Amino acid sequence: MVILEDNKKVIFSGIQPSGDLTLGNYLGAIKNWVKLQDEYECYFCVVDLHAITVKQEPKDLRRRTLELLAIYLAAGIDPEKNTMFIQSHVPAHSEAAWLLTCSTYMGELSRMTQYKVKSQNSAGSIGAGLLIYPVLMASDILLYQSNLVPVGKDQLQHLEIARDIAERFNKTYSDTFVIPEPYIGKAGAKVMDLQEPAKKMSKSGENVNGFILIMDPPEVIRKKVNRAVTDSLGVVKFNDEQLGVRNLMTILMTITGMSIEEIEAKYEGQGYAQFKKDVAEAVVSELEPIQIKIKEYIGKKAYLEEIYKKGAEKANYVANKTLRKMQKKIGFIPR
Ligand code: TRP
Repeated sequence: MVILEDNKKVIFSGIQPSGDLTLGNYLGAIKNWVKLQDEYECYFCVVDLHAITVKQEPKDLRRRTLELLAIYLAAGIDPEKNTMFIQSHVPAHSEAAWLLTCSTYMGELSRMTQYKVKSQNSAGSIGAGLLIYPVLMASDILLYQSNLVPVGKDQLQHLEIARDIAERFNKTYSDTFVIPEPYIGKAGAKVMDLQEPAKKMSKSGENVNGFILIMDPPEVIRKKVNRAVTDSLGVVKFNDEQLGVRNLMTILMTITGMSIEEIEAKYEGQGYAQFKKDVAEAVVSELEPIQIKIKEYIGKKAYLEEIYKKGAEKANYVANKTLRKMQKKIGFIPR
């Protein structure tokens, strides 16, 4: 039986199982999701269909998909309160994506920054999936009548196109979709690369010392924080001239809840050594318990299966309702 809550706003978000997650993914996304689960009706998806827009090794994709679900759970996302599922287990995503693709313009897709960057960087031919990708993302969001979508800055453009696609459909046929809004978290924890703090922390960064992985062991975390780029000013201050220091402060604030002023006062006149030590210990104490839980969940295959099956059941129910409306309005014969 599927129980729906009527009065809560709907939130949808997803992460691709396409590589190891970083501290940036954790502090920027998952940690915030945990805070949303009481107030909103949340769908947290492992977007495996998105992951295959670039080539994936099948066995790695399988492993990472389950690992990502384990990470959601270990971070504190409660499967009783939220719908956690794997995107490919809900065929409506693919079906809706085709229907919406047919009313999306080449122009608007090829203008997307992420597409332009990825297609420029790819040697040789580019998969069409990379172009269509925002339509699949729009389907994810629109099928659940989502009100809010927590996204980072890099995904705002994709959310914008999802809104355009929804508005166009509503206008062409009749009101079908809720128009989603971005959900901008309070302490917008955008974690930057530790070696090049003008760039977002990413697992695809060239220098491994630039990113911390969720699964990095404590001694690796300590080493990477210790080597993080700072400056020669020697003062812990939050400003645009000291990007490295600012980034470490952001990490510390997000984990400990301390304010900028508190941090600046605490390290006044001390240089960076103690500050860096404390940042490293904060990250270790945040990630270590989660790492233990992730390993536990990965070992419990039957439990994971129970969660993603139950999630897919609910997600299929809701998504199919929207898909049937779309099909009917477009003029397809009901099945
Ligand atoms: N495209 C997003 C990313 O790469 C992942 C994603 C897919 C997503 N579907 C979504 C995010 C729906 C929010 C809502 O980060």
